[in-house]
Amino acid sequence: MTNVKIGNISIKKKGVLGPMLEYTTHPYRLLCNEYDCGLCFSEMVYINQLVYAPESLNNSSLLNSSKKDSPSAFQLVGDFSDSVLSLKAVEFIDNYNFFDIIDFNTGCPSNRVINGNSGSGLLKNIDSILSTLKNAKGISKKPITVKTRLGFDKVDIFNNVEKLVNTGIDAITIHARKAIDSNNISSDYNIVRKLKKEFSLPIIYNGDITDDNFFEFFDFDLLMVSRNALGNPFVFKKINYFEKKNSFLEKNFLENLNALKRFHEIEKKNPINFVKKKNMALQFIKDFQGASFFRNKICVSKSDSDLEKIFIEIEHKLLELQQ
Ligand SMILES: Cc1cc2nc3c(=O)[nH]c(=O)nc-3n(C[C@H](O)[C@H](O)[C@H](O)COP(=O)(O)O)c2cc1C
Repeated sequence: MTNVKIGNISIKKKGVLGPMLEYTTHPYRLLCNEYDCGLCFSEMVYINQLVYAPESLNNSSLLNSSKKDSPSAFQLVGDFSDSVLSLKAVEFIDNYNFFDIIDFNTGCPSNRVINGNSGSGLLKNIDSILSTLKNAKGISKKPITVKTRLGFDKVDIFNNVEKLVNTGIDAITIHARKAIDSNNISSDYNIVRKLKKEFSLPIIYNGDITDDNFFEFFDFDLLMVSRNALGNPFVFKKINYFEKKNSFLEKNFLENLNALKRFHEIEKKNPINFVKKKNMALQFIKDFQGASFFRNKICVSKSDSDLEKIFIEIEHKLLELQQ
């Protein structure tokens, strides 16, 4: 059974919710936790914003968390070659009541992020962030992790991991693509398998894991699921069930809707803005005949009670389709 130590934090379930901007909010992390997710990542948060305008994060609920939101990792993004700024951000989260792990994003491929010498832009010169990571390890009580890719435009992950390990980081997530690869190019999990043999720190595998193929990745310590976990927390239940029983948990036809209703309940007690909430709700409503009709209704909904009415209509539709 899974028992992976990331620093002083024990991860007891194999499935990990990957960081996703706009989606891996506090209520969604709580939902995934209820669905047997072993570790949830926050949305990425800019170190500049955290250090210079932390109050602005309240509006976007990026700092929202709670005791139950654990184990969880808070993801930083920014120019980590700026050691002073980066360490101030680390200090902020280290002293924050919530979040167990501090993660450094060196994988985001968006041009805007790369142009700010951030995300996967940092892979062009990994040496520039090593002293920051080493010092982060020195000052933080919380474990320090890095999420990265195989390289920027060539595979240099073997060199990079060696350098990163030498800083003392506690775990690494590897998205098995280069920064220049589009999502249509398959992830190269065999490279990550080779890395696993060479390095002893926990490796979180990331890239193209789905409900249907997760068991093929079971030799990795932890499995990070991102896109497939959007509106589908059930994937974590499936992973956990498979690990315990070596068989597949079947998905009920009402599962996604039930998960959405539960998300809605959790969100009412741990609110996020309504647009973000609707965008999340849309993720649950797919893969059935007529789903787009309800998705359109969600898009134009204006209140919680509008949403609740739509949930009832969806339930009727799903029951009708089932007959
Ligand atoms: C909508 C969206 C938002 C994302 N936001 C982040 C982010 O904030 N930080 C990060 O490291 N990766 C982010 N990612 C990348 C994913 O976490 C993950 O690395 C990538 O999607 C590959 O994994 P998958 O095949 O399981 O989706 C995002 C991906 C998507 C689709």
